[in-house]
Amino acid sequence: MSTSVERFDDKARGAFDQIGDNQVYVGELLRHRVYTRFLHWMVAIFFFLALFSGFGIYLPWLFRWFTPVFGGGAVARALHPWFGIGFAVFFGLQTLNWLAPMTWTAADSRWMRNLKSMIAGKEKLEPPDTHFFNAGQKLQFWEIILGTIVLLITGIIMWSGAHSLGRLTVAVSYILHDIFALIMLFGIFIHLYLSTIGQPGTFQGMIRGAVSEKWAWTFHPAWFQEVTGRDAREAVEQARRDTAASGSSPKLPMV
Ligand code: HEM
Repeated sequence: MSTSVERFDDKARGAFDQIGDNQVYVGELLRHRVYTRFLHWMVAIFFFLALFSGFGIYLPWLFRWFTPVFGGGAVARALHPWFGIGFAVFFGLQTLNWLAPMTWTAADSRWMRNLKSMIAGKEKLEPPDTHFFNAGQKLQFWEIILGTIVLLITGIIMWSGAHSLGRLTVAVSYILHDIFALIMLFGIFIHLYLSTIGQPGTFQGMIRGAVSEKWAWTFHPAWFQEVTGRDAREAVEQARRDTAASGSSPKLPMV
């Protein structure tokens, strides 16, 4: 029986598919539907608006040059909390949308144990039981949820002045707000790298919704198997044989 959250997400996915397009060509798989992409880019827009307006408040002597983009320092200060709330609302909806594929499994614990040899480049393919998201992506997702909660609570305390909560609470809120903003910023640098140059072919999944089958069997073999019914390792071997037969230089298993 589906829950009210699942029903809400299904309805939203259906409604957004009526408005936008999922472009999937031969040899590709649908990865992110219109609703997911819409939420992701709204999250990204509000995140960077909050980040840059926040920089103007945090380090005005360094970032004074771009506060005019927001209409000046005072306007940036007034808009910053609203950008933060926009970010939290869209990320909240994305959390509901991604709750199922972001749930931690035994395969994720194995992935973490295998991380060292992955980083050392000993293994080109992700472990065969890596599903829609890998453990690293899940960790970052939960880190963003924690960060968003802390930033939201501390932000509201600072915004309202919350004098009734005492000076110490406000002072601690300032420190936590800055620390978590920096943690999120650091995490986003890693995210940006991995979703573009680090794992080529990932970015198009968030633009037009589709990824190549090669990408899927390389980075998410268990998901590849679920949607195609084919074994990822067998698909790689088949592609190798086809490449050898055609006489072209093998670029496999990477995309
Ligand atoms: C312009 C900057 C950004 C780019 C280019 C980008 C790109 C992407 C791409 C391509 C994916 C799909 C990954 C996959 O299918 O496996 C993705 C997923 C995701 N994005 Fe972004 N993103 C950006 C900004 C952000 C921001 C600001 C946040 C939140 C603060 C965010 C949170 C996420 C999360 C939680 C996921 C799912 C898990 C993951 O792949 O790490 N992204 N992003």
